[in-house]
Amino acid sequence: MELIDSQGRVHDYLRISVTDRCNLRCLYCMGPEGITQIPHQEILSYEEIIQVIKTATPLGIRRIRITGGEPLTRKGLPRLLEQISEIPAIKDLSMTTNGILLPRYAASLKAAGLKRVNISLDSLKPEKYRAITRKGDLSQALRGIDTALELGLTPVKINTVLIKGFNDDEVPELIKLVQEKPVHLRFIEYMPIGDHDHNYSQHYLPLSFVQEAARAAGLPLTPTAPRTGAGPAEWFTIPGGQGTVGLIHPISRHYCHHCNRLRLTPDGYIKTCLYWEHEYPVRPCINDPEALTRLLLTAVKEKPARHLMQQETGAKTPRARRSMSKTGG
Ligand code: 5AD
Ligand code: SF4
Repeated sequence: MELIDSQGRVHDYLRISVTDRCNLRCLYCMGPEGITQIPHQEILSYEEIIQVIKTATPLGIRRIRITGGEPLTRKGLPRLLEQISEIPAIKDLSMTTNGILLPRYAASLKAAGLKRVNISLDSLKPEKYRAITRKGDLSQALRGIDTALELGLTPVKINTVLIKGFNDDEVPELIKLVQEKPVHLRFIEYMPIGDHDHNYSQHYLPLSFVQEAARAAGLPLTPTAPRTGAGPAEWFTIPGGQGTVGLIHPISRHYCHHCNRLRLTPDGYIKTCLYWEHEYPVRPCINDPEALTRLLLTAVKEKPARHLMQQETGAKTPRARRSMSKTGG
């Protein structure tokens, strides 16, 4: 029994959102008031998360990513990581974070078995970083990146969502970060997820923009050969780069055909696709490994062949969906 869907896609990757809470309020992720928070008693406990992982590993899950919200706002996270690291089948344990709390927690995360981090960073200008995150301090995020590098939570990947009218003027500066530090910078197309950005269609830009802006700035992107990494990014080198530049285009060039991932939401639902409403509750079968196995197999069997975000980029208001902070980025 393996997690293979109707398209023949093998699922070995589980992304676990451990909380919907966050210490930032990024414009593309939530409205100014934040999101309505999931009540504490509805959040899966660490024990329940471990149950799901232990049921999923015999089905082929080998890689885990911890996401949020901001995962480091959840108490005792190293304890969860330690338990995950003890599961022999798990070969890769990573985390997506905004980096703000990394200086405080990175050493204990590393000791607990965390291998690497992806850090969100959408601007290198302090006032713009504050505006995009609605409250963040750029120097703290940069300190988070440096801490991850110093402790060897590598490769360190930086996630940058390209937002027209916000950071499209910073593409060359952002790319230069990979000349300054051994990081891998990945531009991500803004996706119509959540119902907070009522001007979504004015903020979306296809990533062909990055390639043009890079060329114009004398930093041409050269494709790496062969394709590196198992993820959805296409990788490029730049002159003098210590790391690489990646482009993730969920919309202009969707990569659903090699999607290998499942998601577990903080309130205990399996989602097979970011952009599909259907969710499968793990709670009712959390203590019944056979029923949980059946649930995972059913979810994968019913996974849609591809998402339909493209159809929505022109919409003035994207259709309301479970927000990213309640899904896991
Ligand atoms: N579109 C694209 N990426 C998003 N993220 C959050 N919301 C969106 C969105 N609407 C990404 C952020 C962060 C990760 C958790 O998810 O870049 O790095
Ligand atoms: Fe927080 Fe990440 Fe959402 Fe920004 S994108 S508000 S850092 S969860």
